[in-house]
Amino acid sequence: MTQAIHSGAQALLHEPPGGDPNKLTLVRALGSEVWDAAGNEYVDCTSQAWSNNLGANDPRVIAAVARQLSEITHARPTFHTPALLELAELMVGIAPNGLDRVGFTLHGSMAVEMAFKLALRNRPDSRHILVLQDAYHGRAIATMAASWPHPNNVFGLMQGGFHRVARPDCYRPRPGLTPDQDAELCLGLLRDTVTKGVDGPVAAIIYEPIQGNGGHNEFPALWHQGLREVCDEFGILLIVDEVQTGFGRTGRMFATDYYDLRPDMLVFGKGVGGGFPLAGVLARADEAKFAAGDDQLTFGQFPLSIVAGLAAVQAIIADDLPTRAAKHGEHATQRLRALQERTSIIGDVRCPGLMVCFEIVRDQRTKEPARELTSEIVRRAQARGVLLGESRYVGLGNLIKVKPPLDISESLLDQALDVIEQVVTEVDREIDM
Ligand SMILES: Cc1ncc(COP(=O)(O)O)c(C=O)c1O
Repeated sequence: MTQAIHSGAQALLHEPPGGDPNKLTLVRALGSEVWDAAGNEYVDCTSQAWSNNLGANDPRVIAAVARQLSEITHARPTFHTPALLELAELMVGIAPNGLDRVGFTLHGSMAVEMAFKLALRNRPDSRHILVLQDAYHGRAIATMAASWPHPNNVFGLMQGGFHRVARPDCYRPRPGLTPDQDAELCLGLLRDTVTKGVDGPVAAIIYEPIQGNGGHNEFPALWHQGLREVCDEFGILLIVDEVQTGFGRTGRMFATDYYDLRPDMLVFGKGVGGGFPLAGVLARADEAKFAAGDDQLTFGQFPLSIVAGLAAVQAIIADDLPTRAAKHGEHATQRLRALQERTSIIGDVRCPGLMVCFEIVRDQRTKEPARELTSEIVRRAQARGVLLGESRYVGLGNLIKVKPPLDISESLLDQALDVIEQVVTEVDREIDM
């Protein structure tokens, strides 16, 4: 299959020297499919960084943006637009209980920083924010410091104030412990950090209900409960980062609903924009709002993104995409678990909803990660028309993510799963030879 690499690639600051031979140049997208410049068609199980919860170019989103284009494209944040007010009302209407204030911005990273600022505005005597090991909260300068350690971090001059705390692991709990015992241990370590590990009060703890980028790590119920208890005991704000898990991905509108969490703030992004840049924070009305000048970004409430978000959220509700995600996710995980039984290289299959992934291992018993096999499977699937996600930067690098748009058709989902079955079976057989 021809890979079309744009001749201008070397001019791009983000392009590695020599380019990436597997990088496609995309020219068109519709629903769960994308096309490259060479005319090849792919089932997109990445939803473009898990953002197209509603399939690409949904006509309702495109029509709303087209209407807005002929009315007003830019309004600075000192003005309202009708869609901004309507979206604010809709967001607090669907928000988990107790969150009835909302702020918008354009990127998940900026939304996380918005939550940090709001936390510090509400806890002005604190200089500390706790984050979990293997967390990912973005690539802006503060969110980078709040994420897993960058292997080559040269940005330290502008970072600080974050402390990484241990987190439990359901698939690889610490030796000799069950996942619940692992969670108990980590909660004890968290208490130690709050009481003895930092000088002065902690403003906030931020975490992803399922750690996406850091390895698709799900947590025992005990951990979620314990975090809330620690926050209540010490007056710490609990921020849940739902940039990946929000808007139906887990089979509920928010993972907060799925796990029955009680956050003080919820950060959203990705799926909210229907393919346009949009993100933000939901917060409690009884905490202070921003003071003037705290969070003023020129394009923070960009009208085109706001109308796209309004149309996308309305469509996610109208089409009941959380229920579709739950149904599709169950089907996908059943098929992947059957494949796990038939082959020797799938260590674990995880969900919930269409937040699906599987781990490639050398040995199902020792769970030793098989990084090269993972890349090989992803590469072969792409050559057969299926784009899969891969954990590349952190964690164990052996995770394959199957997270298509939530409104993918059953036949396209099965087409993608057929290809996954073929390539995993092939790779499995080849290592046995
Ligand atoms: C959980 C989480 N938070 C924050 C972000 C940052 O979002 P963005 O890339 O839109 O800045 C991401 C992006 O992958 C994410 O997964």
